[in-house]
Amino acid sequence: MQIIDGKKVSANVKERVRLECERLVKEHGVTPGLAVVIVGDDPASRVYVNNKKKACELVGFKSEEYALPAETTQEELLSLVDTLNNKDDINGILVQLPLPKHLDDKSVIERISPKKDVDAFHAVNVGKIMLGEYDFLPCTPAGVMEMLHQYEIPVEGKQCVVIGRSNIVGKPMGMLLLHENGTVTICHSRTKNLKEVCQRADILVAAVGRAKFVTADMVKDGAVVIDVGMNRDENGKLCGDVDFENVKDKCSYITPVPGGVGPMTIATLMKNTIKACKIQNGIE
Ligand code: GUN
Repeated sequence: MQIIDGKKVSANVKERVRLECERLVKEHGVTPGLAVVIVGDDPASRVYVNNKKKACELVGFKSEEYALPAETTQEELLSLVDTLNNKDDINGILVQLPLPKHLDDKSVIERISPKKDVDAFHAVNVGKIMLGEYDFLPCTPAGVMEMLHQYEIPVEGKQCVVIGRSNIVGKPMGMLLLHENGTVTICHSRTKNLKEVCQRADILVAAVGRAKFVTADMVKDGAVVIDVGMNRDENGKLCGDVDFENVKDKCSYITPVPGGVGPMTIATLMKNTIKACKIQNGIE
């Protein structure tokens, strides 16, 4: 069994972005800029936003944080998005989800210029991904693919099972595996015989949002297990969707939590932001 080191792969990706950023500054006088918007004081979102800002600093991007109070209105948030859409020194806009309940995330996402939509959540970008002609890939699924590539884990012809059908992870994850010729099954809360379906998986991706949901009896010997979950267990300790201790010995490869998929999400965000900057400035 080999543990897939998301921190290491992410550091490699960020180093490539850092060098590319250095080149943009030197040769074109352009510094990529990312705006991160957070509404309210969800502690998990705060940690994610801080990590995104740290990554920007590391690779040499400019980052701007817009921390709005929980009572922010829909109009105020949309107006901030409009301002950021029109700011030349901002190439990427990320509105951290989830938003407080009274706000409608769908209309906020649709307001972000598709050219600055570095999460790839906008309908235009989702559609392009479906067609296989995209500028940006969704951060978490693309981060998973990058890990598979770095560890030279083949996807073609493999049984790929994704548990979870969210717009952020499950659905695009299935699409990216399909693009690489995997045979993809997406499971969800209404799936019958979930255990049997998972047992067929050569590559099993867990994106359910429930602590230790994937147990050893659901995993085939030699499977590759990718854990997208970020939960707290009964003792308040960070854990994934996979019962790591009991599953690990059955796997050929497995991602840990923390230190697996999480850092990869941020690495892809950096890649998307520099790409947005290059497209917006007409740089090859
Ligand atoms: N909340 C959880 N994951 C994400 C993400 O990838 N992007 C944004 N904007 N919010 C999130």
